Amino acid sequence: MSASVGQRVSIIGGGGNVGAATAFALIVKGVSAEVLLVDVSDKAAEGQALDISDASFSLPGTCRKGSYKEAGQSDVIIITAGARQQPNEPRSSLIDRNYKVIQSIMDSLKPIKATAKILVVSNPVDVLTDIAQKTSGLPRHQVIGSGTYLDSGRLRNELSSITGVSPRSIHAYMLGEHGDNQFTGWSAANIAGRPLLDHSRMKGVDLDSLYEKIQRKAYVIIDAKGSTFYGIGMCAATLTQALLSNTSQVFPVTNYVEQYGCYMSWPAAIGYDGVEQSLDVKLDDEERKKLQTAIDAIKGACSGY
Ligand code: NAI
Ligand code: 2OP
Repeated sequence: MSASVGQRVSIIGGGGNVGAATAFALIVKGVSAEVLLVDVSDKAAEGQALDISDASFSLPGTCRKGSYKEAGQSDVIIITAGARQQPNEPRSSLIDRNYKVIQSIMDSLKPIKATAKILVVSNPVDVLTDIAQKTSGLPRHQVIGSGTYLDSGRLRNELSSITGVSPRSIHAYMLGEHGDNQFTGWSAANIAGRPLLDHSRMKGVDLDSLYEKIQRKAYVIIDAKGSTFYGIGMCAATLTQALLSNTSQVFPVTNYVEQYGCYMSWPAAIGYDGVEQSLDVKLDDEERKKLQTAIDAIKGACSGY
């Protein structure tokens, strides 16, 4: 059965773990959309779609296997296809395997609907978003990546357990790169407008160890179970919902930041047009240096493709 609503979301790589987790999260969140799964393995896409459609009968969304032709005409096109990390492998080393995957997917999607938004999730996400934008031909504001939204959620969960405040009321970001060069924006972090580091329960917290825990979390999960997918599935579904519903909510996504001249993980308000505005973030001198390291890494990787 197809959805009665007009919105369509396609997931390329939908036969895999992240694609399926994203589709499941879209359905469970009650997003009113037809979700199409496309994969180089037709059988995997078919199996995931049949399984997820079993979860959708009491919810507004639907899920089925789709084609590249249908995906190219979707409102949001999510890219989860490609290789994932082996234990202890950095995300950056996936670029040699995944850049051709992204280029060929963009070519297969053409003609792409002029108003479509592309959300890249495959790693290394900041670099692949740049490649996706160039290959797709869509304007920069319509091509984004999941960036450090997942890492920022991990950070907010940790800060919640320290401060006793809900993660939803903690404003704190991991920034720069969804990779080893990410850094914590401590200077801008706050609860109720007060600097987070002034909170009484943050006194004596080892910030370096806390950073390490966030930055290493994906490695720990991959070592234990082979891959991460529930967290990113929920993140990708939430970003898709914001794009479809025009919420103008701010997320740390991969977006093209004019001031720095590259795609990077940075807060932006997103809605129907994709990125509506990229925000400015208060940084101290040390954070600025870390930002430059992240930018240099992304630009260096992008210059090779
Ligand atoms: P997976 O191996 O379970 O799934 C990948 C899927 O991509 C497979 O079904 C495969 O058949 C498909 N595929 C490969 N080449 C394709 C092509 N040319 N066209 C269509 N489909 C193709 O891997 P998993 O765990 O789903 O990870 C997918 C990607 O997501 C990886 O690059 C991983 O690093 C990334 N990831 C990103 C996160 C983030 O925060 N940005 C979080 C977790 C994973
Ligand atoms: C994550 O951070 C591996 O990028 C993936 O979970």
